[in-house]
Amino acid sequence: MDLLTDSKAFQRTCRQWRADGLRTALVPTMGFFHDGHVSLMRWARANAERVAVSLFVNPTQFGPEEDLAAYPRDPERDAARAREAGVDVLFTPTPGTLYAPGHATWVQVPELAEHLCGKTRPVHFRGVATVVTKLLLLATPTVAVFGEKDWQQLAIIRRMVRDLDIPVQIVGRPIFREPDGLAMSSRNVYLAPDERAQAPNLHQGLRLAADMVAQGERDADKVLAAVRDHYARTLPLGRLDYLAFVTPDTIQPTTDLAVRTRLAVAMYLGKARLIDNVDVNPNPAA
Ligand code: PAJ
Repeated sequence: MDLLTDSKAFQRTCRQWRADGLRTALVPTMGFFHDGHVSLMRWARANAERVAVSLFVNPTQFGPEEDLAAYPRDPERDAARAREAGVDVLFTPTPGTLYAPGHATWVQVPELAEHLCGKTRPVHFRGVATVVTKLLLLATPTVAVFGEKDWQQLAIIRRMVRDLDIPVQIVGRPIFREPDGLAMSSRNVYLAPDERAQAPNLHQGLRLAADMVAQGERDADKVLAAVRDHYARTLPLGRLDYLAFVTPDTIQPTTDLAVRTRLAVAMYLGKARLIDNVDVNPNPAA
């Protein structure tokens, strides 16, 4: 595996791959790898001839009050895990390499960033869309791989790639979970033991809602009330940020449960803010 820190060197390597006619995959990350990240790398390894992973804790997607400085890092362990997963190039730029002084250009998809995480994290998706655009332009991969854990992020990236005619296929991969159901996240290390013990109930609440709808319940308020009640009982240390049914592609709030929706949640738990989401399908057998 090659470790590259220079944007130009990364670009040159990826260009050569394309010139050689190779199918290439890019997996953008912020590091501190867990099995969810590795599942994306493995998918890339199995579905492309060359795999690049970027590891960059992108400052522009953190708000002033957020955890940029505290964001967990372990570059040596990350390099070892990427190597094990068969990654060809690990690109680890410094902020100064990726953002030149006077950087002034932003990519925004405001309609899809209005709700859910966009509400509590106003600059977040602008930072994500901009850095992902930069990485796609540097690597020009055949496919770029993202996790469904960050559902709103994935929807925004799909729309941005479509609207800007970026020639890449975007692949979304399922959420990788701990055995008890907690979605894997680099931020789970923030959880104290008592918080960690309650955290799996976040996913359980979403499952409860998906099951109610699968069994015929169509009253969104009733379903949301049941989930809130579940959280009040099983996650007393948590503070709900949002819980909402949204349209899967446009991320607009909806109460129409006769069609497929996504139920998304964000919860503050100790020093962590956890997010999760599930597919809500009124006709699961269809
Ligand atoms: P990061 O949080 O490091 O996540 C990198 C990729 O791994 C994202 O596509 C994310 O959705 C995916 N991922 C995280 N947890 C996962 C899980 N439990 N199961 C499956 N996939 C999971 O998301 C980012 O970084 C950044 O916003 C980034 C896109 C790199 C832009 O800076």
